Amino acid sequence: MIQACIDVIKKKKKKVNYFEIGVQTGFCFFKIKAERKVAIDPNFIIKITKKVKAYYRNLSNFNNRFFELTSDDFFEQKSDYIKKIGGIDVIFIDGLHLYEQVVKDIENSLKYLNKGGVILVHDCNPLSEPAAVRAYTSEEAAVLVGSHPQWINQWNGDVWKAIVKLRSERKDLNITVINSDHGVGIIRPGVPEKAFSFEEGDMDKLTYADLDNNRETYLNLKSPETFASFVKELEKEFK
Ligand SMILES: C[S@@+](CC[C@H](N)C(=O)[O-])C[C@H]1O[C@@H](n2cnc3c(N)ncnc32)[C@H](O)[C@@H]1O
Repeated sequence: MIQACIDVIKKKKKKVNYFEIGVQTGFCFFKIKAERKVAIDPNFIIKITKKVKAYYRNLSNFNNRFFELTSDDFFEQKSDYIKKIGGIDVIFIDGLHLYEQVVKDIENSLKYLNKGGVILVHDCNPLSEPAAVRAYTSEEAAVLVGSHPQWINQWNGDVWKAIVKLRSERKDLNITVINSDHGVGIIRPGVPEKAFSFEEGDMDKLTYADLDNNRETYLNLKSPETFASFVKELEKEFK
């Protein structure tokens, strides 16, 4: 999905800037092909040595930067850098899985998102209660859920609430979740689809059962096949 968005933008723009918040081992990051890639993680599992940096600098057309920072610190300290390289075309948000942090990451990304840009958010559609437990890490989640029969070592946190909150409060954003790979949120400035308002506005009161009973409405959940239509729409913007 990430690469598909980059490839559409690439048809029109020579240099596409890809950002990833929460990179860990670089499993996703290193596979992405974009002219400029920016990695943000306070705790890279891969050691970003000078050798690794030099390797990626030397790959033709590749220009990678690694910021060993939290996303908040990155946006606070590196604003000039983001502007200097020409903003964000595509960003994949997969950092701290607490909904209030995800809301911040989305709102900060929007400040630098280029016209036609795309924000993708991982883990928006947890499929069980233990997968949605609030925690800082998957290790902490595993301890919290203990021997819950539905725990299968897949953890998404309460990222889904960020989607509910923004769908409820931001009438200037088009937000969809594709029902694939734990739910991939797609966020762009635009007119909301199937708008809804969560009247309470209090995310802490929302439970996993609420999500389970209202997935389609809360998340504007769409089948994986609809991603192809999204790509077509995106292409039209770049014609
Ligand atoms: C699920 S992993 C990322 C996986 C990666 N995107 C992939 O697909 O291969 C989450 C990562 O988020 C990082 N993280 C935790 N808190 C963060 C924060 N405040 N800002 C940015 N990254 C954070 C963790 O260090 C961890 O490496």
